[in-house]
Order: sequence, then structure tokens, then C-alpha cells
Amino acid sequence: MSKLQSATDLPDKYLSALASANLQPLWPSLRTLISHGAPARSSIPMHWNYPQVRELLIQAGDLTPIEKAERRVLVLCNPGLGIDNLQATPSIYIGLQLILPGEDAPNHRHSPSAIRLIVEGTGGFTTVEGERLPMEPGDLILTPSGLWHEHGHTGSEPVIWMDALDLPLIYYLETSQAQEAPLQHAPIRPDSSQTKFRRAGLLPYSQLHDRNPYPMLRYPWKEAREALTELAGATDRDALVQLAYVNPITGEECLPILGISALMLRPGESADLGRRTCSAVTHVIEGIGSSEIDDNAFNWNPRDITVIPPHASCTLHNQSSSKPAFLLMVDDAPLHRKLGFYREYR
Ligand SMILES: [Fe+2]
Repeated sequence: MSKLQSATDLPDKYLSALASANLQPLWPSLRTLISHGAPARSSIPMHWNYPQVRELLIQAGDLTPIEKAERRVLVLCNPGLGIDNLQATPSIYIGLQLILPGEDAPNHRHSPSAIRLIVEGTGGFTTVEGERLPMEPGDLILTPSGLWHEHGHTGSEPVIWMDALDLPLIYYLETSQAQEAPLQHAPIRPDSSQTKFRRAGLLPYSQLHDRNPYPMLRYPWKEAREALTELAGATDRDALVQLAYVNPITGEECLPILGISALMLRPGESADLGRRTCSAVTHVIEGIGSSEIDDNAFNWNPRDITVIPPHASCTLHNQSSSKPAFLLMVDDAPLHRKLGFYREYR
């Protein structure tokens, strides 16, 4: 590989002339922009233990009324990317959101897509396009790009959920925007995960020609957990027990940029995920264990959150010899697949 000339090898007068004409030579930056071998990477493996974040989030409940926040969220920021940039990974925003009994988070819609993974508390709900979606711990709720959504809480304890958005990417594209509207006040009735899409492999006939790109917006944890447990019983010990959350009509990933999956580690099991081009974030729904990410090791407990940067190696361990562990993973693999360079390797 040839060594390229650096900017300091060029005369100051020439560099000044370039700058005043809004020009830059490519060659001093070429190896950084398109590095040979491993990509340049700023994001670092990160881990947040839930009790520490929860304590600060509950304090926000005292310090900031919902009317002054719209969304009462603490954002998990990767210091490798600069904590002011509100990025967990280059493309993924992660926040922990608190809603207190009786509060409403206003109705709005925006260009970034979001998922909610309910962390604790009952009685919360999200209404999306007139469909009221209960929020039970472990449930996954989708609020895709452009769909009206609001949050409410009829229970008696704090409700906390994890938000994951493709916001960093949408912001980078200079196309992040939102609109507000009055609350939706949707009727209380079973959501489509309990009616139209109750069983995998069965659809209401009319859905065969339905063009709605987001037909199902809630994925109950109770059913995902059962499905993982059944799958584990039919999966060899050295194979990964992992289920993807998909659109029940197309079978494709739920959202265009973010991918969601759930993993089960059987008692004492280790799972080598290898390296992937995409970045990912894991949230512990149940169990205790550890993650080795490149040269970092993090012990985790329920509700902890961990960042796996692009191209990082990752091995997960269930540290219990008697109980399973369950993790939810959010990644940007759907985008990498669309761009044609998704890859898994050792
Ligand atoms: Fe929103």
C-alpha cells in the first residue's frame, strides 16, 4: 500500500488558497475515510447498570414535570462518539423514559422510527394511529416513521421503558422532524397482536392484499418468551436460540433501519456471536451473565444495557447454572442488509 502525502507536506500558501476556495485535498484524508482493513471506529463498548440510571431517572420525575419535558428521557450516550451527540452507536439512539401515574406524553409523529421495550411497571400504554397498546414488562412496541403516537399511564407505580430510535442517522441526513396533534383517546380493546395476528402462520384473509407496512405494533413478551423456550428445546446446545421480530405479513424485519431480536441463553450457556458489520444494543429482560466485547468484559443483571460497536467481537455468558437468561437485541442490521454489506465473521 503506497504512503500518501499528508497535508503538512503541502505549502501553507497552497493550503490557504484551497481553504479560501472551500476546497480540500482528498489524499491526506483518504486512508481515514476509507480505511484499508478494519473500518475506522469511534464508538466503544459500553455498559449501563440499570439501578444507577433508574435512580437518576426517578429524580428527573421530581425535577421536571412532564409538561416541561414532553418525553422525560435520559439518553445513554457513547463517550467514544461524544456524549453531546446522544448516540449509543453511530446509528442508534437509546433512552430510558419515565412516565408517572396519571401523566400523558403528548401525541406526535416524526421521521425517525422508534421501538419501546418496557422495562418496569404496569398500567402504561402507547396509542399508535388510534390503536391502544398495553405496555407490560418485556413487551415490544413499534412507533414507525410518520405514525401518530402518544403515551399514557393509568397504573399506580412509575413505568419505565427503553426507547431505541434510528435518530442519529435521520438527523445526519438532515431530515429529522416532528409534528404535534391533540391526544387520540383510543378505545380500550385488544390490540392486533391478540386478534388479527394471534398465531404465527395464520393471517386474516384480507391481509393478503393489505398494503399497510406496519400491520402489527405490539409484540407481547409473554408470547416471545414462550416461543424462545420452545425453540430452545428443539435447538442443539451449541446453536444460538434467537428469534427475530418480523412483520407478520411480509416476514421481513419490522422497521427499515432497526432490527429487533430476542435471545435465550440456557443455564450455563455461552454464545459466541462473532463479529458483525452492524452495531447493536442489548437489554437484559431476565437473568444474570456477562458479555465479552472485544477486550472488554461486562457483568449484567436484569434491565442492564450494553453496546456492541460495529465489527466488535461478542460472546455472551449465562452465569446461572439453573436459570435461563433472556436478552433483547436492537441493531442496524436491516440497513446494512439493504446497503449490501451486512456480514458476519470471526
Ligand atoms: Fe415520539
